[in-house]
Amino acid sequence: PTLVRAYHEKVISHYESPRNVGSLPKNDIDVGTGLVGAPACGDVMKLQIRVDEKGIISDVKFKTFGCGSAIASSSYMTERVKGLSLDDAGKIKNTEIAKELSLPPVKLHCSMLAEDAIRSAIRDYRKKRDTLPDSKKAGY
Ligand code: FES
Ligand code: FES
Repeated sequence: PTLVRAYHEKVISHYESPRNVGSLPKNDIDVGTGLVGAPACGDVMKLQIRVDEKGIISDVKFKTFGCGSAIASSSYMTERVKGLSLDDAGKIKNTEIAKELSLPPVKLHCSMLAEDAIRSAIRDYRKKRDTLPDSKKAGY
């Protein structure tokens, strides 16, 4: 019973008090921005990462204009990727989020938005880094 309640509270808290809401300066060279939309419903999610010189995600922020499940999914994702390498962060699946948040099948696309958003943020960061001379490149 204790375990079940702890699980439940974790889920509820991502809905009621989402973590890491906000923005990072999108022109900073160490910031990657992912902006994705869900064709199914028109909801939009922005997720941003800041990457340190070792290629580790040191900060994460999100803004989601969408349903409660999309907001909870992005909140969960921000906590999940902080401290991870870009490769590890890019491997997180929406099915993990859906399971952690107990999303019903009709809300699967909401968690997909979070998976798309982190991948898109990583791509944006890498694209920016690729424009730098090798001596200035950090991480990946
Ligand atoms: Fe309203 Fe997604 S558009 S729940
Ligand atoms: Fe579309 Fe949740 S993101 S209903």
